[in-house]
Amino acid sequence: MSRFFTPALSALEPYTPGEQPRQRFVKLNTNESPYPPSPMVREAITPEAVERLRLYSDPACTDLAAAIAEHCRLDPSWVMAGNGSDEVLAIAIRAFCGPDTPLAFADITYGFYPVWAALFGIQTKILPLAEDFSLSPADYCGVGCTAVIANPNAPTGLALTPGQLEPILQANPNNVLIVDEAYVDFGAESCRCLLDRYDNLLVVQTFSKSRSLAGGRVGFALGHPALIADLNRVRFSLNPYNLNSLSILAGAASMRDEAYFSACCARIRATREKTAAALVQRGCTVTDSLANFLFVRPNRMPGRALFARLRENGILVRRWDAPRIADWLRITVGSEEEMQILLDTIDRIWKEN
Ligand SMILES: Cc1ncc(COP(=O)(O)O)c(C=O)c1O
Repeated sequence: MSRFFTPALSALEPYTPGEQPRQRFVKLNTNESPYPPSPMVREAITPEAVERLRLYSDPACTDLAAAIAEHCRLDPSWVMAGNGSDEVLAIAIRAFCGPDTPLAFADITYGFYPVWAALFGIQTKILPLAEDFSLSPADYCGVGCTAVIANPNAPTGLALTPGQLEPILQANPNNVLIVDEAYVDFGAESCRCLLDRYDNLLVVQTFSKSRSLAGGRVGFALGHPALIADLNRVRFSLNPYNLNSLSILAGAASMRDEAYFSACCARIRATREKTAAALVQRGCTVTDSLANFLFVRPNRMPGRALFARLRENGILVRRWDAPRIADWLRITVGSEEEMQILLDTIDRIWKEN
């Protein structure tokens, strides 16, 4: 820290992203898709589009918002795009929390929520998950502040239905509920079906996982036009050209290729179920994940040890040195081949012990 860094942020603990290695690893640590983006994305990035990089991008992301709106059967005034859902979530937390409005979230969830709260000087209310990592919506009824729920949750993969989350919206009509649906396309049900009934619901999704565009950085929020206008008020006070023009084209093209999207999601779901069963056969405990990752307790050895052994064998997964989950690994669902390498490696490690 230099002597110029503002003392107001001296205690800030930044988010630690998953490792992005340069060597060849079987990379199962940041929930990227093992499949390439839609072929329509490649077609959209034309030489003319590259030439147009000399111009600023469209601050309204008109074509991308239209494609998202069409897919979600909403008017574009219900959509705001951002530079990955991380940016959308940060803008939402900036917009709907403040000195008198804390942010509530689970004790085991996406690790960026407390970082944004600290960066923006927002108090937090931590609502612990049950022993089996399930989230009780009753804990959020009457919470009296903005709340964010990852659904499916990360890193547990567990999801609630819109019907189970709806009582939170009913009980807190004067507070915004942000539902972070980064992983919803792999088998959970989106809360966007509740949007026309609740003006306090903001649904946030991403192109990073199910649409294979993690490096393109495209995410979006869906909500009542008044909430979207609030988000834009913050966005236009920070970075109106938040999405570059190539990502706008890539996102719109990807959103319009429904067939490719559905096929990729189905493939990942099938691989997830097969891998989960194989891990259970190998003595592991695996949660009922509806995401593109599995949350796994090895049982045969501590999580830390298996993490290290996998890394020595060229396989990167994710683990947190955090209360309640230190023995668990989050393993991205990769291709069939990658999952077979994972399982063969675990077999070898078990034999060596
Ligand atoms: C729960 C959750 N929300 C949001 C994000 C952010 O995704 P992105 O910024 O790539 O859209 C992630 C990334 O891993 C995540 O796990």
